[in-house]
Amino acid sequence: MSAEPFLLTPEALRHPDSTKWLKYPEGVLPLWVADMDYGISPYITAALHERLHSGLGYFTYHRPEPQMAPLLRQKLATQGVSDLPLGGIRTLPGVVPGLYASVLGLTSPGDDVISFTPIYPPFLSAIADHGRGLRSADLLHQGAGWQIDWDALEAAVTPAARLLMLCHPHNPTGRVWTRSELERLADFAVRHRLWVVSDELHADLSFVGPHTAFVSVNPELRQRTVTLTGPCKTYNTAGLGIGAVFSHSLPLLDRLNRATAGVMGQPSALSMTMWQAALEGGGEWLEAVLEQLRANRDVLSARLADELPWARYSPPEATYLALLDLRAHPRHADIQPFLLQEAGVALNDGLTFGAGYQGFVRLNFATSPDILNEAIDRIVQACRL
Ligand SMILES: Cc1ncc(COP(=O)(O)O)c(C=O)c1O
Repeated sequence: MSAEPFLLTPEALRHPDSTKWLKYPEGVLPLWVADMDYGISPYITAALHERLHSGLGYFTYHRPEPQMAPLLRQKLATQGVSDLPLGGIRTLPGVVPGLYASVLGLTSPGDDVISFTPIYPPFLSAIADHGRGLRSADLLHQGAGWQIDWDALEAAVTPAARLLMLCHPHNPTGRVWTRSELERLADFAVRHRLWVVSDELHADLSFVGPHTAFVSVNPELRQRTVTLTGPCKTYNTAGLGIGAVFSHSLPLLDRLNRATAGVMGQPSALSMTMWQAALEGGGEWLEAVLEQLRANRDVLSARLADELPWARYSPPEATYLALLDLRAHPRHADIQPFLLQEAGVALNDGLTFGAGYQGFVRLNFATSPDILNEAIDRIVQACRL
């Protein structure tokens, strides 16, 4: 199956509800928020149509687990996750609510939370919004790409540290933590008696082979880890909010439920149908998308190396997000507004990923080759030193 047929036109993408395409004026190329410019799998479209003919009343409340749980279990088994107890998978209205629920359920006000920066911004807001302290270990950006600074990680531990928040694969660097890095992190979490929330939403978008779930690398993690997953990055369905949290520890999941009792809400019937359909029949579509994403990533890497050699950049091992270090540019202090103004390209500002990331921008390359190449032309033109 060729990748081209699922590319949406800019006219279709400028749907009145689209955050990505409507935040900035027409003419600006929006390569920011993590949506792909691709239509969804026809298999999902068909399932959604069918669902509309079956009524939209309350659903699944009588079940201990959602309908798609057996399919999700099969998929998790390929990531090394086995023996989840009945009730060990619980749905969420999205993965961000799962980040917040983890902070609320696994820590108390005044506790410290350890994470890596740069990081997907809701990690930071979940900690700050609820009066917990961020202890962040900056990743190192060296020759081999983004790396964990193990000394900084140890230095981040305080007597009040209770929770490690991991993003795997990592947004915004695109790192896929290796098994040996995961094992070392597991040892760290166990040694310091930390709870862990591992956000693995980007697991399917790996260019370096099958995903290894963090909880699978050390049996001692099972009773201290909750893992977040969902379909929205893989199948481009963020507008149909849904996610799930799973754990071998039912008491940990109960803590998340209690901390958010009555305010979490349920995912919608259509989102449940979508996820079920994606797990059943979304594979062929996903393969074509990954082919397109890999090709786009390679174009971006080659062109940046040739045309913007002073920009520091390590091609992501997963995700369709590329973090560019443009600190060598004279306008590094306001590089995102500069590129918006001068290049007509909207990127995410490095500042939002943590203190110290001014001068970085995140570029979403899940678009057509034409739009990507046009955006690179414009960035190169505007950034010429
Ligand atoms: C690591 C990560 N977690 C969570 C989310 C958002 O998940 P949701 O839309 O299900 O809340 C994103 C979106 O880009 C993400 O990159």
